[in-house]
Amino acid sequence: MKRLIASILCLVMLLGQVYVTAAEDSTFLTANFEKSTNGFKTRGTATVSQSTKYAHEGTGSLEIAQRGSEAWHSTNYDLTPYVVSGGSYEVSAWIYVPEEVPATKVILSLELTVDGTKSWPWLNNGAATVEPGEWTQIVGDYTFEETNIETVYLNIETDAAGIGNTYYVDDVAFSVTGDTPVPEVEPEPDPAVDMSLPSLKEVYADRFMFGNVYGARNKAGLDYDILTKHYNVVTPENIMKPDAMQPTEGNFVFAPVDDMVDFCEKEGLKLVGHTIVWHQQTPGWMASSGDRDIALQQLKTHIDNVVGRYKGRIYSWDVANEVIGNTTNPDDWRSCLRENNPWYAAIGPDFLEYAFNYVAEADPNALLYYNDYNLDDPAKAQAVYNMVKELKEKGVKIDGIGMQGHYNSSTSPMAVEKSIKLFASLGVKVSITELDVAMANMASSKLSEEEEIAQGRTYAALFKVFSDNAEYIERVTIWGTDDGTSWRADKYPLLFDKYFGAKEAFYAVVDPEGYMEEHKFVASAATRTAYAAKGTPAIDGTVESAWDAAPEFDVNNYATAWSGASAKAKAMWDENYLYVMMNVKDPVLSDKSEVVHEQDSVEIFIDQNNAKTPYYEDDDAQYRVSYTNNQSFGSNAVTDKFITATKETNGGYVVEAAVPFTTIKGQEGIYIGFEVQVNDDSKGTGARDSIAKFCDLTDFSYNNTEKWGQLGLADANGVFNEAANTPVDDTPVVEAEGDIKVILDGGSLLFDVVPVMYNNSVMVPMRKIYTELGASVSWDNSKQTITSVKDGVTVQMQIGTALIRKGDKVEALIQAPILVDGRTLVPLRTVAESMNCGVTWDDGTKTVTITSPGKE
Ligand code: XIL
Repeated sequence: MKRLIASILCLVMLLGQVYVTAAEDSTFLTANFEKSTNGFKTRGTATVSQSTKYAHEGTGSLEIAQRGSEAWHSTNYDLTPYVVSGGSYEVSAWIYVPEEVPATKVILSLELTVDGTKSWPWLNNGAATVEPGEWTQIVGDYTFEETNIETVYLNIETDAAGIGNTYYVDDVAFSVTGDTPVPEVEPEPDPAVDMSLPSLKEVYADRFMFGNVYGARNKAGLDYDILTKHYNVVTPENIMKPDAMQPTEGNFVFAPVDDMVDFCEKEGLKLVGHTIVWHQQTPGWMASSGDRDIALQQLKTHIDNVVGRYKGRIYSWDVANEVIGNTTNPDDWRSCLRENNPWYAAIGPDFLEYAFNYVAEADPNALLYYNDYNLDDPAKAQAVYNMVKELKEKGVKIDGIGMQGHYNSSTSPMAVEKSIKLFASLGVKVSITELDVAMANMASSKLSEEEEIAQGRTYAALFKVFSDNAEYIERVTIWGTDDGTSWRADKYPLLFDKYFGAKEAFYAVVDPEGYMEEHKFVASAATRTAYAAKGTPAIDGTVESAWDAAPEFDVNNYATAWSGASAKAKAMWDENYLYVMMNVKDPVLSDKSEVVHEQDSVEIFIDQNNAKTPYYEDDDAQYRVSYTNNQSFGSNAVTDKFITATKETNGGYVVEAAVPFTTIKGQEGIYIGFEVQVNDDSKGTGARDSIAKFCDLTDFSYNNTEKWGQLGLADANGVFNEAANTPVDDTPVVEAEGDIKVILDGGSLLFDVVPVMYNNSVMVPMRKIYTELGASVSWDNSKQTITSVKDGVTVQMQIGTALIRKGDKVEALIQAPILVDGRTLVPLRTVAESMNCGVTWDDGTKTVTITSPGKE
């Protein structure tokens, strides 16, 4: 990014210290918008992009457009890393408003968070009226008297009179004044598109089309390179929306769209029309006269002009966008229609039929789509399903359903898949039309490595679902080329960062399965383990002797600032149920709140395959019961199999609960993912103020299983025995045994379990061979995984899975490790070769000869 004054950097490096104070080096950061948005971001709904329409110097500037109806919908820049309490700073910016925009008052202000409270002070002298057609400089300053500054953003916005006005910013410079130390600024990389990466459209060529958004910036430079390298279909991000196409009645803005259509044809890009009937970005005059016939006429005129003009050149249309609002009663889809859609308000529910029919008449060959967000929500999906089904039965042409796909890291790929299959069952095409995966709103200016990987895992899981369902999916469109220009830039949702560097998410999309293998959740030291005793207690609120053998564990880690009720808990299991007993210490009992989780209650979470995912899989479930034995449920709960009893005690209450196993059978020696929580309205006011947990200290156990603890299923005495989990019917067919010889560096190796030949591989006891080869080895029973380390190289192998991981690379194995009589045998050749040994096999003497590196 821009633009660190090189001389300062050199000086900083020469002096070898953080600050320089020479007056002439007071500028620590500049932005010239020649190649990118230089880290300036969107505030509100404004579109913030690098533009070559106007420039103060050079050829680029920052365009702030599509600002909607708030003055603060503008741009900002994160100054948090640079500002210190007591420091004085100056900001200079050049501003331009185009000839067609009225004179506009532009303001340099701050968004300051101090002790958790936000304020928006203006810079001193930080406002000026900018006359159209003239570059105007604004120079403002500010001294931070505040202490405990948490975040500081610079805003470049307008006053209320300038709401909606488009403006341009160029050559911004940040300086210190007085003796304020000059902050050290990390030089930012120059944006570059890596043309050597695999092209997404090629990777997915045989599955579905791969799309992105179009804006005028994509016609040249890096924005052009990245678009044309990876994508073969585009959706205009804004220029075909109703307010852009026909801002005032009868005035159609065709020029930028004509330009785009020509560009796409020249580049061989398919084009999606986006969008006709929508409640947003629709000019106030449309459908607002109060007269149904006028509204219908306006709809037809808009469609005839817009769809008609590009007939045959736009292959697919998002005819209706986001018309479903509430989903209280999905079976009556008309009751779900969004009341603030102006077309619905003016015409009634049949506005949809008219819209689809008019578009079908204007371009009979185009594909017609219904497009909406949150379609992974089963109720919303059902409403859309019912709507499209009925309209199709009536003969309305609807060819596809677009799932926008504005997801986040707790989106469930399983839920997405269910909706894809549901829609496909209507015989329509399905497209993912606006995909991005938002991460939590971070104060820092980029994702941490851990967050990037979490995002990568979500993208990988989603693209695995898309690939598995490729027969139904026509197109997957990512909503933006890079994090810098994304409409959700503050949440870093895309495949490339603001310098066009490929993120983890990119690699996850290129090879979803490989990525998921390489980035499996690894139980960390923070994963707490408790044990459940085998047996079946009575669920009656009385803690009888059956519980005696079960080891007790504490539920006393607080996810809240306030430490209220806690519990001593035990667990038991049998084939069909997990049993949980919680003795809750809670002197003030309350179920005053109407919201069940705010009442004094306990929650039980189970993750039957212990996969620790950032979303719920089908085997993950949430159950709740209050101290009055009032049950309530989260995702995937089987309501009629949750059996509970509660009893008040002296100083609290006891809960006994049976939670059904649904995807596994209880089996000794396995671990399941497990979490429990105690909700406490400690003052009896009707508000929960304390949450005690077993392990997961987040408040997201209801949609994310990653941080839960685990529960080992032990024997009737509560003793856990890993070996009890040896798969019984996995006994391998041993083809030859006893006469295989192993020679290591000239000496014979003897094993206490003789080597066996299995599927043409010589299998030997794991511990012995690793020890002989000088590697350390460990065994994780819950994941059935062997990990060995030698010379810093880690190799993992999993029982039953023909995979080996070396460092971060996954390689296929010919033979997976096997379990024989509770002992783990590993394929000798694979192990030895992974340690860089030479391996030869003599069939005549049945001898394996291993040569360590350097022992030639
Ligand atoms: C967004 C654009 O990305 C922004 O540039 C604009 O400011 C607001 O609209 N659903 C849609 C898209 O159908 O058109 C929206 O696009 C994102 C939500």
